[in-house]
Amino acid sequence: MSGIVQEYIVDYIRGLIGEDTGVLKDLEDYATKEHVPIVQKEVASFLKFMVTIQKPKKILELGTAIGYSSILMNIASNGNSIITTIERERDMIDIAEKNIQNYGFEKKIKILEGDCLEILPKLEEKYDLIFMDAGKGHYNDFFPYCLKLLEYNGIIIADNVLFRGMVASDELVQKRKITIVKRMRTYLDMLCNNNELVTSVIPIGDGIAITTRRNTDE
Ligand SMILES: C[S@@+](CC[C@H](N)C(=O)[O-])C[C@H]1O[C@@H](n2cnc3c(N)ncnc32)[C@H](O)[C@@H]1O
Repeated sequence: MSGIVQEYIVDYIRGLIGEDTGVLKDLEDYATKEHVPIVQKEVASFLKFMVTIQKPKKILELGTAIGYSSILMNIASNGNSIITTIERERDMIDIAEKNIQNYGFEKKIKILEGDCLEILPKLEEKYDLIFMDAGKGHYNDFFPYCLKLLEYNGIIIADNVLFRGMVASDELVQKRKITIVKRMRTYLDMLCNNNELVTSVIPIGDGIAITTRRNTDE
């Protein structure tokens, strides 16, 4: 249960989405068995949709885990995207690299090992789509770098922004999560009060925020 949307709605939408197949099913099964957090089904479906309409050539992901969302986005682009994904945990990288090799994505997905805060300042290429799915408490720190690395018409998607509903309601906040919750609220306030940006906060999965630059074309 996500804590964001009523369970019967989640169940219904998941029923519509249906089961993954092939590599994505294998990776999803592994993630479930080994308790590795990967994007929830509705977010996976949203990412597929965004990649299909935006047709990003270059994607940056923060948080690889076992490579599920990287592979999903590459498949959604029909193999027409190059994905750079950042991960700091060596054991996750080992599994992701194996998956990327075994399923034939090694020319399309590159993992950068390290903390996002160390790696982001060193990147120079621009990206059409940036997917933030690591270090929930640090989105405020990651964002200025991500904006710099974003193509003019690019899109930033941040996952977990409603964090089990805690971000939207003090009554749900667990004491030990208060710092993350406060930081996430600051992140969403910053996005929604920046006149140069357009942001939509969408209550699917654990909550996502999708951001782009305001259109200033004449
Ligand atoms: C939710 S998982 C990513 C799931 C993946 N995007 C997917 O859906 O298949 C988050 C990952 O980010 C990594 N992570 C957390 N904080 C990080 C940081 N500051 N820099 C790099 N990686 C980080 C964690 O080790 C974890 O593997």
